[in-house]
This record gives sequence, C-alpha cells and structure tokens, in this order.
Amino acid sequence: MTSVQNTPHTHLTPKRIAVLISGSGSNLQAIIEHQKNHAHLYQIVLVVSNRPNAFGLNRAAAANIPTLTINHTDYASRELFDESLQFALDKAHLDLVVLAGFMRILTPHFTQHFLGKMLNIHPSLLPKYPGLNTHQAALQAGDTQHGLSVHFVTPMLDSGPVILQATVNIEPNDTAESLQQKVHTQEHLAYPLVIEWFAQNRLQYKDNQAWLDQKPLIIPQQL
Ligand code: GRF
Repeated sequence: MTSVQNTPHTHLTPKRIAVLISGSGSNLQAIIEHQKNHAHLYQIVLVVSNRPNAFGLNRAAAANIPTLTINHTDYASRELFDESLQFALDKAHLDLVVLAGFMRILTPHFTQHFLGKMLNIHPSLLPKYPGLNTHQAALQAGDTQHGLSVHFVTPMLDSGPVILQATVNIEPNDTAESLQQKVHTQEHLAYPLVIEWFAQNRLQYKDNQAWLDQKPLIIPQQL
C-alpha cells in the first residue's frame, strides 16, 4: 500500500526576477551578492536600464546577467516607453520586478499590470517625502530620524503599501550627502531581505495591503 504524505513544500522553484535601474546600481549589487547565497530562492534573469550609460549595467555584465537598455529618449510618449518595457519584461516570464533607482514615473496601466509583483525602494520614511531630494527635505524639516522604505508599487507615486523600513539618526553635522550614505548602507540590507521574503512565498499583496506570513502589515516591519 502506498501513502501520500502531506509534507511541507520545502523545494520552491527559484523565482525569476528582473531589476530595473537608471544609475549606479549599488542596490543591484547588494541583490547580486545576496542572490549568490540564495540561488535556490531566486535568479536575476534580467537587468533593464532606461539610460545607456548607467553604471549598474557594468555590474550586471560582470555578474553574467543579461542586460537590456530601453532608452526613454527614443520614445515619443511615456505610454509608448512603458509599453515597450512591459513587452520586454513579459517576455522574460518574471515573478517579480524590482525597481532599484529606476528614475521613471510609470503609467497606471504598467503598474496595474505588475500589481503585487513589483517592488520599489524609496529613500525616506514614507509617507514622509515622496518624490525627489528626500535627504534635503528631512534636513530642512529638522527631523532627527530619516530612513528608507521598501513598498509594493501601485499607480500612485511612492504610495504603495510599505513592507519594511529602516531608520537612521540625523546628527547635527549631517549633510544631504552623509545622510544618503547612511541610508544606502541600510538599503543594501533591506532590499535583499524583502526579496528573500517574496521568494519564500511569505510576502503577498492583497486587498491593497502587504501581507507577511499571512498577516496584514498594518505597521511596516523594521530592519
Ligand atoms: C536609492 O537611494 C534608492 O532608494 C532610490 O534610488 C537610489 C538608487 O541608488 N530609489 P543605486 O543606483 O542603487 O545606488
């Protein structure tokens, strides 16, 4: 007689992820390093840049990751650029799209298409300071703390449900540059961790919320 055992599903198929960049790609580098020790959980199958000279493209090439440049200046409209990007990403059969310093405002159609499958990292403690120049904004406001947020991407810019935040202290002698460095150091720990949760099937987007281990994240996790 044979018996079917209900063993926990310990062997997941590695998730296929793409990382989208526009510049230096230091977060991409942190994800590449993390992936090396978590190859059973996820693969970086593609790195896309909207800028041909983004340094992050070199980082991807050095790690033997296929790269693609879709130069936004070649497109007459935001819609046409996003359409082309969506086509390229769909072709790669992705489980997750990771925005890592991807300096583009995305159309609602695009964000809807990848709803629940697209993450962003933003250098502020959202909902504070969406948009650009967040370090300067925190200094000007006289804040004593600053940080970063990893969130699911929804049509509203920098407003999707926050999954994880990390906080840094603002000291009297901090400048926008020193704050950026402090935040970057934390980003390189935070982003791989959230990707790991997603790849482990622990993280979901549902009912306009982020869920971790079957519980809604009413308050974001703290690094
Ligand atoms: C990071 O600070 C991230 O929060 C923001 O863009 C920056 C990208 O830096 N979205 P890098 O290209 O990963 O070094």
